[in-house]
Amino acid sequence: MSLLDKFLSAKAISEQLGGTQLDPTRLVIERMISPTEGVINGRRTILAGTNNYLGLTLDPACVTAGIRAIEELGTGTTGSRMANGSFSTHEALEKELADFFEMPYAMVFSTGYSANLGTLTALLKSGDTALLDADAHASLHDGCQMSGANVYRFRHNDPLSLEKRLQRLGDKVRDCLIVVEGMYSVLGDTAPLAEIVELKNRYAALLLVDEAHSLGVYGDRGCGVAEAQGVLQDVDFLVGTFSKSLGAMGGFCVSPHPQMGLFRYVSRPFIFTASSSPSIVASTHEALRQLIARPELREALWRNAQQLYEGLKSAGFQVGPELSPVVAVKLGEKEQALAFWNQLLEAGIYTNLMIPPASPDRFGYIRCSVSAAHTAEQVQSIIDAFHRKAPLR
Ligand SMILES: Cc1ncc(COP(=O)(O)O)c(C=O)c1O
Repeated sequence: MSLLDKFLSAKAISEQLGGTQLDPTRLVIERMISPTEGVINGRRTILAGTNNYLGLTLDPACVTAGIRAIEELGTGTTGSRMANGSFSTHEALEKELADFFEMPYAMVFSTGYSANLGTLTALLKSGDTALLDADAHASLHDGCQMSGANVYRFRHNDPLSLEKRLQRLGDKVRDCLIVVEGMYSVLGDTAPLAEIVELKNRYAALLLVDEAHSLGVYGDRGCGVAEAQGVLQDVDFLVGTFSKSLGAMGGFCVSPHPQMGLFRYVSRPFIFTASSSPSIVASTHEALRQLIARPELREALWRNAQQLYEGLKSAGFQVGPELSPVVAVKLGEKEQALAFWNQLLEAGIYTNLMIPPASPDRFGYIRCSVSAAHTAEQVQSIIDAFHRKAPLR
């Protein structure tokens, strides 16, 4: 097989996805009307799958902070954090993150993806072990693989399965990192972090938690699922992204371990890429201030989550196991999910299509995420569209 022949399978996927009206991977938002509405295919569409949990992408203070930073510091840093790409604003954001999570060490990366690669490859080397939740995000899988460590998966959200893995490691448990998410991105279910922390303490392993989808969503202060379960200070490495609740782009890791201060010398995804542009850092910093100062955003988010989750559930749809701002509806075979995704779009509702390998099993899902900025009427419109187009119950 030649290098180019390998694309035959990608071509088959492309033909399958393009077989209906619109290939979901080619969707274009032509214009934003508000954080919850955009123009797609020339039509006003409710955005029900953008992870814009706090609705801050068009917040006037965040927008102004971004514009001012471009005017004062320029459009980009044109360098990596190890060279000319560390501005005082990167360091101020790191300080703010450290204070927010009440952990002494914080590092900002250019994306959430590279925060995971950068943290995992700094921590793990050949001969070490990563115990990874089976449903963990691709960036966590990729980081573990890239590190060269031995990677073993345990059953999703199953502390018993994790404990069996820990037991089998014997003395090597000292070189082991447990890798999980706070809220899982596809079904919106949360990790049993209190039980996982108990295990990691008992076996003297280390724990990394990716709170990409839980930052700003869970916990009294919005720190995430670890805070909500009272175990924030037991997490060894907490990673997250700026691309969801904070409405921008970039990632971070915070930790109580002083060794994190040395990641900058060994983390290739930190060293060999340009740092975030000043506008991104500034809007993220402002969004973090708002996340802290406006708990009412979180309250609005949960009101909307409850309305959507309960509305779809009582209409007979098979929703995920837990109420959360991610509401995923199981739809049977992937072809059905693809057709339904298109029908919802025609009805003016944008959602996420999740089919294998992105879905947790062989079935197709329609994944919605609500925002604090959705109105109750918009959430009702989403429920009504599911109702009208319902392919199967
Ligand atoms: C759990 C999780 N971790 C990391 C990432 C990567 O974040 P980013 O897209 O900001 O690079 C994502 C993105 O969807 C995610 O869902």
